[in-house]
Amino acid sequence: PRVAVIVVAAGSGTRLDAGVPKAFVGLDEHTILRHALRGVFAAPSMQVIVVAPAGREGDALTDAEEAAGDRRDLVSVVTGGSSRQASVAAGLAALWGDIQYVLVHDAARALTPPDVFARVIAELEAGAAGVVPVMPVVDTIRQMDGEAIVGVVDRSTLSAAQTPQGFPRGILERAYAAADREHTDDAAVVAAAGHAITTVAGDAIGFKITTPADLDRARALVAPVPP
Ligand code: C5P
Repeated sequence: PRVAVIVVAAGSGTRLDAGVPKAFVGLDEHTILRHALRGVFAAPSMQVIVVAPAGREGDALTDAEEAAGDRRDLVSVVTGGSSRQASVAAGLAALWGDIQYVLVHDAARALTPPDVFARVIAELEAGAAGVVPVMPVVDTIRQMDGEAIVGVVDRSTLSAAQTPQGFPRGILERAYAAADREHTDDAAVVAAAGHAITTVAGDAIGFKITTPADLDRARALVAPVPP
């Protein structure tokens, strides 16, 4: 199949508070973005679009070309927007004409294994209109009204959505063109356009690096094992 992966890396990383945009924070000698792209290039992608923060396009291209190796011609870098949704839209505008399926992946999920990409692509080939990797929710989730607890949500009815999320290209493009408000992920944009979303198993290692504790965990996971 002709698959494109849009890697959104244009977030500021406010919650990480690392002084540089999150995608350019180092895990070891490589950035979060470079690690994320390693997983992307291990999957059978035909086009890789990196959505970078304004002013960081050159750094993103350096990371992408290093991760691409001899497949540099698959890579393009575009400038992101002020919301994740705007950044994905910028990526969509750069798709090649012959792409059939689009996967959208958070650079912040730097350690997502290639298996997750493969499961999403397989589900698209089976005819899905939208595919989300999910994990069970392990915490007890409380409904709040300000500071007050007003209820507990039955966690067996919940799942946590990861990326890459995959869609047939036309469905994703039309859903983005029709979106009239901000959604927190791409499956929500496509669901709002009336499509059924299917799920595949996510992977615990595909967690999103959001807080300083997440960064510590990611760094520990990529650190060489001491002799
Ligand atoms: O903020 P959050 O961690 O949920 O962002 C998820 C992903 O979306 C990150 O990889 C981030 O770089 C990206 N993003 C973006 N453009 C924005 C906001 C977030 O590409 N304006």
